[in-house]
Amino acid sequence: MLSSKVTDCNAHGQDSTYFLGWEEYEKNPYDSVDNPNGIIQMGLAENQLSFDILQSWLDNNPDATGFKKNGQSIFKQLALFQDYNGLPSFKSALVNFMSEIRGNAVTFDPNNLVLTAGATSANETLMFCIANPGDAFLVPTPYYPGFDRDLKWRTGAQIVPIHCSSSNSFRITKSALEDAYQKAQKQDLKVKGILVTNPSNPLGTSLNSHELDLLVNFVSTRNMHLVSDEVYSGTVYSSPNFTSVIEVLKNRNLVNTEVANRVHIVCSLSKDLGLPGFRIGGIYSNNKDVVSAATKMSSFGLISSQTQYLMSEMLSDRKFTKTYLSENSRRLKNRQETLVKGLQKAGIRCLKSNAGLFCWVDMRHLLGSKTFEGEIELWKKIVYDVRLNISPGSSCHCSEPGWFRVCFANMSEKTLASALQRVTSFVESMSRKNNPSRHEQIRLSHARRTKSLPKWVFAL
Ligand SMILES: Cc1ncc(COP(=O)(O)O)c(C=O)c1O
Repeated sequence: MLSSKVTDCNAHGQDSTYFLGWEEYEKNPYDSVDNPNGIIQMGLAENQLSFDILQSWLDNNPDATGFKKNGQSIFKQLALFQDYNGLPSFKSALVNFMSEIRGNAVTFDPNNLVLTAGATSANETLMFCIANPGDAFLVPTPYYPGFDRDLKWRTGAQIVPIHCSSSNSFRITKSALEDAYQKAQKQDLKVKGILVTNPSNPLGTSLNSHELDLLVNFVSTRNMHLVSDEVYSGTVYSSPNFTSVIEVLKNRNLVNTEVANRVHIVCSLSKDLGLPGFRIGGIYSNNKDVVSAATKMSSFGLISSQTQYLMSEMLSDRKFTKTYLSENSRRLKNRQETLVKGLQKAGIRCLKSNAGLFCWVDMRHLLGSKTFEGEIELWKKIVYDVRLNISPGSSCHCSEPGWFRVCFANMSEKTLASALQRVTSFVESMSRKNNPSRHEQIRLSHARRTKSLPKWVFAL
């Protein structure tokens, strides 16, 4: 009775363990008072660390929430506004904020920005603009599980993974790019571009200059597009710094060249300001045809005018944006360190990260079998016995079993401490069960390994 889009729910990706973990959490959510044995949600990349800063700005600026400008009501104007080009004051404030996040190393032209209802809509819209059904985009693994829905589901585009490996901290290499490209060719897929997330979800790392140059060169010689999803650009908390692809184009004098027409940035305030419910995102592109088509398509997912107005007021307050960005990054750093140190005590290592709202955690030594079945077995124990919802690497299409994404910014410090306590007890009980006499030896050897591990392994 219904269309195949509706009936083929696998194409939406809802069956992924990433979403199943959320469902389990919803059935038994942790609450320190009402449900202390419930599941702690560590599978949600949400930033709740700086709400007090947003709240205090709102308290001090009642006009912005009361549909007023200089004391006069603008309710009617906002209620009637329906121009899909967006409020000019908001677009201008947003591009200035994007520039500030990138250390003012680059400027953005508001005419090249298309507003969308979050990055979800921005990514899909770009696929509609660039790819025909059946065309492919190369995406480095591990990648954000939502891409299976956002890039493929309604557009009919395909994702071909660029397999990255733990042997080089999951960096993108030329051979991995070539392999993915060749694989797509063999499958008769037309490769329209590469989509990267910088800083990466789930790795929590930003692309280095070698990778950025490699990507620009690759799309340049092969006449392809490069989409850079930079929704975590405002979550960078330690070195090395994040470099936007737009800065690479500028530094390489490519701004007015043909390749710049094929580079597009996706932005959002869901992570940078922790406002996923407001649905604020955008596409930034030098390509006039993409901007024009995406603007028309944005009719299907506009940002409401009162949200645009509120955010134009907030983001034009440069004192606020400066304080928010520096304080937020300080808090994220503290939080990440708490998680990494807590896991380290339990003998669990993390990939060295500098951005994002999560760590990429190595639990390979806890697998019963070094397979993806073994990973799911371990994940089930963690969800149902330890009662933590974390995301298995397989949901991010990681090619090696045993890696998990663990979020740290969507809970209180106390909840994180409880979660770490549970992990420690779990690891201890596992090693006791597996080999009681060796339990103490293992604990000591983990502590020794921790000291002698290669530099990339620990985030501290
Ligand atoms: C890499 C990446 N892109 C896009 C999104 C979607 O963001 P939004 O809430 O702005 O739609 C997410 C959300 O987790 C993400 O991690």
